[in-house]
Amino acid sequence: MKKDTKSILEYHLGTSHVRGTLTGRALNWGDQPVPFKLYRDIPVFHLPQDLSWPEIPLDRAMDFRPPYSGPNMPALLAGICNLTAGITQVKKQGEGSFFHFRAMASAGALYPTELYVALQNVNGFNDGLYHYCPLEHTMCSLRAGQVFSALAGDEPIIRFYLTTIFHRSAWKYGPRAYRYCLLDAGHMAENLLLSTRIYGLHSRLDYDFDDEAINEFLCLDPKLEACLAQVHALGCSPETEVYSTIPPKTQTLPAFSRSAAKSTAPEELLDAHRLCSAIGRKPGLLNLSTSQDTTSLPASIVPASTSATIQRRRSRRNFIPKSAPTRDFVDILSLLCRDNNAKPPCTDALQVGFLAGETSGLTPGYHHLNRTTCATTLIKTGNLMPQMARICLDQGWLDNAAMHIVFTADIKTLEMQSGPRAYRYAHLEAGRIGQRVYLAATAKNLGVCGIGAFFDRDGATLLGLPEGQVLLYLIAVGPIKRA
Ligand SMILES: Cc1cc2nc3c(=O)[nH]c(=O)nc-3n(C[C@H](O)[C@H](O)[C@H](O)COP(=O)(O)O)c2cc1C
Repeated sequence: MKKDTKSILEYHLGTSHVRGTLTGRALNWGDQPVPFKLYRDIPVFHLPQDLSWPEIPLDRAMDFRPPYSGPNMPALLAGICNLTAGITQVKKQGEGSFFHFRAMASAGALYPTELYVALQNVNGFNDGLYHYCPLEHTMCSLRAGQVFSALAGDEPIIRFYLTTIFHRSAWKYGPRAYRYCLLDAGHMAENLLLSTRIYGLHSRLDYDFDDEAINEFLCLDPKLEACLAQVHALGCSPETEVYSTIPPKTQTLPAFSRSAAKSTAPEELLDAHRLCSAIGRKPGLLNLSTSQDTTSLPASIVPASTSATIQRRRSRRNFIPKSAPTRDFVDILSLLCRDNNAKPPCTDALQVGFLAGETSGLTPGYHHLNRTTCATTLIKTGNLMPQMARICLDQGWLDNAAMHIVFTADIKTLEMQSGPRAYRYAHLEAGRIGQRVYLAATAKNLGVCGIGAFFDRDGATLLGLPEGQVLLYLIAVGPIKRA
């Protein structure tokens, strides 16, 4: 792809996998990125290590509840940060090295997403901007002072920011990694929404902001990383401005953005991000299904604890061709329709569907899921699972899953209607709803695994997508072999 990418659809097509042309990237192990950002020689706040969370069932996590009024804000922030981005399992890899599994899934386990929080009038904390380090469970103070307007008075304000470090993912996936950076950030965003919600914070997710100003506020190196989402968790809205006039702790903060020796991201990826950085226009409602033949889903029943489910979530690939109660799959689909009252205005950018396999108990074939009406429409009949497994770079184990949940978007129309930033909206939303699939499936004791690797055009052909509409992401769900 040339450097002067004009449309985001062009980027997408240019980074598509095509059967017969996939050569595999040689990984440069000398340039392997470190998955943690560690600011050194800057004051850190040690968050409480004894973690406990409000016990809220997953199917109730999105409900409104009274705001947390406890005095222990460090415990609240410790709980939220850990459930959002924290370490959930440590595995010895041999020779004294360890692998840290995290609260969210991540393509290739490369963890490009970082979490920041701006605080004002929050008990137990000095006002300012902090970065959360999952490895040390600390918050590093990047700017100290009143970062929000003085007009805010004495009320507490909490706003989170999700950023991505391009090289972490691009090291393995090259220019295609921009897609994964966005999907990964979406996964973390859903954890953040759920974990703030269980504490009664009426948080709102926001993908639209002045990128340049926020990147500067967060002391990011714009060539290496970028803010992708903010969450207004307490006492603030998109209109509440932050001030970069509060000086950073040192002028060298952007230098900590280097995740490896080289750390540079491919030009195609940076071009795509530049295109997507212009403020978008709200996408219109896209027509999902033309058929009247829809099936309404019942309200989801997923009583498992939200925090415990996030803690035990993992990707599992050892699917077995065995039946599970159909109601489990219905509950998962129905949970995806729950509006967590934090819906970003661009949620219509994404279309959700699923391939039902023969063991799901649902009619085998491709179905649309209308998340507004919580109803499904059968689009194409037949067992399409083996074909989709081949399309997913021949990851044969996918054939044994009971269901493939698929995320698509009409990039061509979205780009015309809303500008290229809609590409960001669609991927972030796919990742966000994808994390919810992970949690719902985990709560039902089913296996689940996200798939970002597929032959793009073949996927679109199987699903019968019109020109310009593309497959963004797929998540396999089903019974697994227990150890
Ligand atoms: C956007 C995305 C794409 C992924 N693509 C694949 C894939 O193509 N094949 C696969 O086996 N796993 C895939 N995964 C799963 C990751 O490999 C997994 O999340 C990671 O290894 C961390 O493990 P954990 O989910 O058990 O914590 C993907 C995950 C995400 C979020």
